[in-house]
Amino acid sequence: MVIGDDNTIYQHFHGEAYAPLARKLISFTDLIADKTTGFVGRRFAVDAIDRFVAARSSGYFIIEGVPGVGKTSLLAHVVAERGYPHHFVVAALGVNRPEQFLENVSAQIIAAYQLDRPPLLPVEASRDGVFLSGLLAEAARSRPEPVVVVLDALDEVSHAGDPRENLLYLPPRLPDGVFLVVSTRPRDHADLRLQVESREFFLLDAGAAANLADVTEYLEIFAARPRMRDLLAAQGIAPALFVTTLLGKAEGNFMYLHHVLPAIEEGRLGAGGLGDLPQGLQAYYESHWRLMRGADFETWLTYRQPVIVYLAAAREPVSPAQLAAWTRLPLSRVVEALRVWREFVHVEGGRHRIYHASFRDFLQAKDEIGDIDLAGTNRKIANHLEQLLFGESPP
Ligand SMILES: Nc1ncnc2c1ncn2[C@@H]1O[C@H](COP(=O)(O)OP(=O)(O)OP(=O)(O)O)[C@@H](O)[C@H]1O
Ligand SMILES: [Mg+2]
Repeated sequence: MVIGDDNTIYQHFHGEAYAPLARKLISFTDLIADKTTGFVGRRFAVDAIDRFVAARSSGYFIIEGVPGVGKTSLLAHVVAERGYPHHFVVAALGVNRPEQFLENVSAQIIAAYQLDRPPLLPVEASRDGVFLSGLLAEAARSRPEPVVVVLDALDEVSHAGDPRENLLYLPPRLPDGVFLVVSTRPRDHADLRLQVESREFFLLDAGAAANLADVTEYLEIFAARPRMRDLLAAQGIAPALFVTTLLGKAEGNFMYLHHVLPAIEEGRLGAGGLGDLPQGLQAYYESHWRLMRGADFETWLTYRQPVIVYLAAAREPVSPAQLAAWTRLPLSRVVEALRVWREFVHVEGGRHRIYHASFRDFLQAKDEIGDIDLAGTNRKIANHLEQLLFGESPP
């Protein structure tokens, strides 16, 4: 595990006293760095968190927002600025289980607040929310300032168990002085599995003026980059027009810009110019899908489609060699297909996964209308594994 030197939380683990706890730590250094690169705005949201913490004695501040509006980035920014203890649920990495959250946050609280605990977590730490609750109370008593814990993507949690249990065994009542800042995609509040005494919802609203102001700022910074200035000048597009057009197309969604702006900067804009850009994130995915399929149908069927479908079906990041084994394609073809899907794929340590959950949702929708077969692909992956283990094809 890599523990970043830059992060005020992780630095506590460098001391000998808490070093063994570091084994329970999940490092989000890379995720935080990725999500805070080029970060803009969000003053209004950070102020809302601060007001909540100042006004209450304890409680949950729950940030809701549609896929791609910027919840994870906001929380990454808050963690980077304040050094709050944190946990980011990332289903694509398999970081979505209660015990990971309980152990990771417990380890951070013990080390950050220098609590007098043995340097190894007891087994009960990951059994339910009681141990963590005790730690939070102790941490709050140890210092005058509030204890704020950040938890991203409650909607990606995998928690079977009794439906009366809170997701991740989050405590129904937080000790005095303890606050949890949580994010989720919009869910019916009754179905959220977060029954707590004190909670407030905050909508990170894509269409709200404050969000659109941040998106505008982001676009203005982008339009002023030397390469973009030249590009716009060459096409006779005024920067202000560029900003207002993209603002309308993005529908307040940062993920849309994350995909579309690099494509524009690389000169991949079609002959129709800005006006032809797809309207909104799902339309952007659809247009890329059509582009990939339309370029050469044979290549699409044999390489491009299987590679992205296997990547979507895989439960964890996979290497190109693994994809080649599953698809029975030559490695060079897999690498080539991964290259054309690169803007939707995250690579770390040579292993690939779908970058953003909203693209996975898009593929899920393709599955539902029969364009692709995720369930069948899942079965093929399972069969492959059985063959490896037992050396024969299952019946
Ligand atoms: N305030 C911001 N400044 C700059 N870029 C941002 C900002 N917010 C989001 N982004 C960009 O938009 C992308 C999508 O944002 P993010 O992943 O935070 O969305 P999300 O709301 O967490 O979506 P999901 O519900 O699917 O998890 C980020 O990868 C980042 O590139
Ligand atoms: Mg997110």
